[in-house]
Amino acid sequence: MTVRVGIAGLRGRMGHEIAALGVNDPRIMVVGGLSRRTRDGEPGPNGIPLFAETADLLSEVDVLIDFSAPEGSIIHASACASSGVPLVCGTTGLNASQMAELRSAAERVAVFHAANMSAGVNAALAVLPMLVRALQDYDVEILESHHRHKVDAPSGTAMALARVVADATGGDLEGRARYGREGASLREPGEIGILAIRAGGNPGEHTVILAGDGEEIRLSHRAFSRVSYAEGALRAARLIANQAPGWYEPTTLPGFL
Ligand SMILES: NC(=O)c1ccc[n+]([C@@H]2O[C@H](COP(=O)([O-])OP(=O)(O)OC[C@H]3O[C@@H](n4cnc5c(N)ncnc54)[C@H](OP(=O)(O)O)[C@@H]3O)[C@@H](O)[C@H]2O)c1
Repeated sequence: MTVRVGIAGLRGRMGHEIAALGVNDPRIMVVGGLSRRTRDGEPGPNGIPLFAETADLLSEVDVLIDFSAPEGSIIHASACASSGVPLVCGTTGLNASQMAELRSAAERVAVFHAANMSAGVNAALAVLPMLVRALQDYDVEILESHHRHKVDAPSGTAMALARVVADATGGDLEGRARYGREGASLREPGEIGILAIRAGGNPGEHTVILAGDGEEIRLSHRAFSRVSYAEGALRAARLIANQAPGWYEPTTLPGFL
C-alpha cells in the first residue's frame, strides 16, 4: 500500500530531507507540503506542491509529517484531529502546555512523537537503562552538539536520554538535572549533567558519560546527515497510517524499533 503524506515545514532542513527520500520511495507518495509563506500550488523542494490551506492538504493525505516549530506543530495537530488524519511529529522544544495540546489531538487521531527518529538513537535509549542500573553510583553527564541554527537547547534527545537515566534509577529528572556549569558548582550525588554545544553545521551528536573513579563508559551517537531522521519519520508514517487514535512513541508504535 502506498501511503500518501504531507510535510509541514517542507521548506526547512528536515522538510527537504524527508521530501528527497520520500519521492524515491515506492511505498510513499509525497502529495504536498505546508509553508507559512506560500501561494497555492507553488512548487516547494523536489517540485512538491505547497498548499496555502492546511485543510486542503489534509483532505488528500493519509498522514501529516510535521517538522516545523512548537507553535506550528500544535496548529497542525489540531487540524489533523479535525480532519481525522494521523500525525507524525518530530518537532522538539514543545513546552508542557504545547505537549498537552499534542496529546489532546491523540484522543481523536493517531499521533506519533519522537524527539529523535533515528534507529541508532532509539536503540541507545533502549539499552541505556541496563547500563545505568549496572553502574548505579557512577556519575552521569550528557553532552549534545548541534548546528548553529538549532533553536531549542538542550536538545529533545538529550532530555529524552536524561529522562531515561532518571527513570532507571527510580527518580524524577526535576531536581537532578544540572544544565551547564559556571562558577563554584561542586557535583551533587545523583546529579545528571546536561551540556549543549551549538556550532557549525553538525546534524546532531549525543554522548552519555557514565564515570566512576577508575573508568568511564561513553554511549555515543553521531548523525552523519539528517537522513536517519528522515528514514525514521517515513517509517513512522507508514506504520501509523492505519493505527487507532492514541499516543505513540518509538517503543509503542508496533514495528518502529
Ligand atoms: N525528531 C527528530 O528526529 C528531529 C531531527 C531533526 C530536527 N528535529 C526538529 O525538527 C524541527 C525542525 O527542524 P529543522 O532543522 O528542519 O528546522 P528548520 O530548517 O528551521 O525548518 C522548520 C520549518 O518549519 C516552518 N516553521 C517555522 N515556524 C513555524 C510555525 N510557527 N508554524 C508553521 N511552520 C513553521 C518553517 O517554514 P516556513 O518559513 O516556510 O513556514 C521552517 O522552514 C525542530 O524542532 C528540530 O529540533 C527533529
